[in-house]
Amino acid sequence: MTDTLPGAASPNPLDEAAITAAVEDAVAAIAAASSLEELKAVRLAHTGEKSPLSLANREIGSLAKEHKAAAGKLMGSSRGRVNQALAARTQVLEAENDARILVEETVDVTAAPRRRRAGARHPLSTLQDRVSDIFVGMGWEIAEGPEVESEWFNFDALNFKPDHPAREMQDTFFVEPPEAHLVMRTHTSPVQVRSMLERDVPIYVLCPGKVFRTDELDATHTPVFHQFEGLAIDKNLSMADLRGTLEHFARQMFGDEASIRLRPNYFPFTEPSAELDIWHPGAKGGPRWIEWGGCGMVNSNVLRAAGIDPDIYSGFAFGMGIERTLMFRNEVGDMRDMIEGDVRFSEHFGMEI
Ligand code: DAH
Repeated sequence: MTDTLPGAASPNPLDEAAITAAVEDAVAAIAAASSLEELKAVRLAHTGEKSPLSLANREIGSLAKEHKAAAGKLMGSSRGRVNQALAARTQVLEAENDARILVEETVDVTAAPRRRRAGARHPLSTLQDRVSDIFVGMGWEIAEGPEVESEWFNFDALNFKPDHPAREMQDTFFVEPPEAHLVMRTHTSPVQVRSMLERDVPIYVLCPGKVFRTDELDATHTPVFHQFEGLAIDKNLSMADLRGTLEHFARQMFGDEASIRLRPNYFPFTEPSAELDIWHPGAKGGPRWIEWGGCGMVNSNVLRAAGIDPDIYSGFAFGMGIERTLMFRNEVGDMRDMIEGDVRFSEHFGMEI
């Protein structure tokens, strides 16, 4: 540029060639900037305080008077060219930037969302809840008992004689050691006795839960399954109360056209005892009678074992299988589908059955 010390008066004009070269440099660098960040650095280098053009501009003040006007004109047009080039390049790069953002940040509002599979409750749980809700709706309570049960609750208190075949090895899982007299409960009926011992009369309880039998797994049997047991103890209860309760229950489960019938049967813990059939209006292949469970008036021996005076109180009881109910109510052909744990089976039923 010039060798004049800043601030010292100089008679010489500005070095026009050097200034033109600086402008060319600046314009070339501006054209070469390929992003707004690069352009920012170029702007600083070529128009910043320490750039050749700024330094030259600052010299005008110290020039001899007769050179000032020409120098001012030269610097004005030089800086004008650079600023114009900067403005034009900024416009181009901003337009490019906007176009790139439009592409990179595009959201496809029609794309299928990636959903997490939520799974579903198992239909056995849903059905058990539905049954419980129906009885809770009648003012009954839910009662539970242990799955490892004492032989006394599972059999003796329920009036099974010591030689009753149900106690034998082929039906019952006995828990070691034998002298502990523990079994995996074979039915939910022991919860009847527990409820009578634990609660004050009158008693209205529904006892859903898991039960165990030494059955081989096949389409209609499984060694672990579920039952629900009902027990009502009050003054003056009769078979009519049992019938009315079960009929209401059947209609809640199978619709208003459902009805029930009782056929004489034998259970040690009820007398009289009956087999409960349901008229299922929506049965696969047309309406028909289907065997559903057992029921009866609580045997006075059972009442006595549970400390209830059979001369003052009477009661009725019933018990059904939940798997079996699900099979004929929701047309499940094979019980093994219920225990395999394939989520597609559960999802098919949805949240309400
Ligand atoms: N506990 C019986 C079973 O597992 C079912 C049953 C029958 C329950 C009659 C009852 C009843 O409460 O009264 O086969």
